[in-house]
Amino acid sequence: MKKDIYILAIESSCDETAAAVIKNGREVCSNVIFSQIELHKLYGGVVPEIASRKHIEKINQVIREALREASMQLTDVDAIAVTYGPGLVGALLVGVAEAKAIAYAAQKPLVGVNHIEGHIAANYIEHSELEPPFLCLVVSGGHTHLVRVADYNSFEIIGKTRDDAAGEAFDKVARAIGLGYPGGPKIDQLAKEGDKEAISFPRAKVEGNAYDFSFSGLKSSVLNYLNQCEMKQIPVNTADVAASFQYAVVDVLTTHALCAVREMGIDKLAVAGGVASNSSLRESLKAACEQEGIEFYYPSPVYCTDNAAMIGVAGYYAYQSGLCHSWDLNAVPNLKIGQRG
Ligand code: KG4
Ligand code: ZN
Repeated sequence: MKKDIYILAIESSCDETAAAVIKNGREVCSNVIFSQIELHKLYGGVVPEIASRKHIEKINQVIREALREASMQLTDVDAIAVTYGPGLVGALLVGVAEAKAIAYAAQKPLVGVNHIEGHIAANYIEHSELEPPFLCLVVSGGHTHLVRVADYNSFEIIGKTRDDAAGEAFDKVARAIGLGYPGGPKIDQLAKEGDKEAISFPRAKVEGNAYDFSFSGLKSSVLNYLNQCEMKQIPVNTADVAASFQYAVVDVLTTHALCAVREMGIDKLAVAGGVASNSSLRESLKAACEQEGIEFYYPSPVYCTDNAAMIGVAGYYAYQSGLCHSWDLNAVPNLKIGQRG
């Protein structure tokens, strides 16, 4: 009988301190997340120094909890996986130092995981039938990428944002209309009460690569609209602004993703990252895929935003391929997809 493989995973790249235990790459035995959102809300965004300090305070507790929930001891796991980039350097360092220390102490293999590859791997958790190759639209607070997932450890970026990430645009627009941080879920909610056709915001076309994105023009256009209303003393319907802005983002993301799957002859599309939990984006991609006969995959919201379960899944496939790291593993804040180091 094949031996079960357990991965203990740690994630601390931004403002979530998280640990999880994953069995055989697909089954979540535990998934513990300590969110720092309440702390950063006060400042309207993530404060890197505060994030690092909180990670230090919470990380041992979160790991202990993850092992306890999985009814396991450190000695029972086969390898330790940790996010080593991209992300905030001080935040990443906490997870990396912790993972190295416990892996060394327990004499377990250490597997550094790319955070974005982790987001993509989140799709394997609830879709046991999903296997590469497929196309993945990665939309988070820091990244907007169209990635061809050729194999579990083989990725090719075919499109990306030239400026703001989709989540960043959501957060900035939310702040402008007084919704606070993090803006994505709040815009998602408010947009349900608004008319998405009320205001016509631009859909940027980027020269050079039809799959690239640009969201800074859209964000400026929303800010201009708000300024104009203020100057002319016209009351702003924030629900209409939220709905119209969201429609513009969702429209561009759907069009590019569908165009890519069609032109590349891929029959599976997945979505990942914090913005993947946006209800309108999920509906739009689902409807478009249905129409074209393309299989569409998306993780539950808890696996869209930052978590360690996704890092454990990606870590499992790296471990199975022998992609382990030595004790000199370091945080790489600008780590690229597919880069090993
Ligand atoms: O993946 P994630 O948790 O962290 C990064 O790796 O960046 O993504 C966080 C981003 C934030 O910008 C947040 O506003 C956005 O995801 N987000 C959403 C929704 N939930 C989270 N954006 C739109 N609609 C949502 N429901
Ligand atoms: Zn993330």
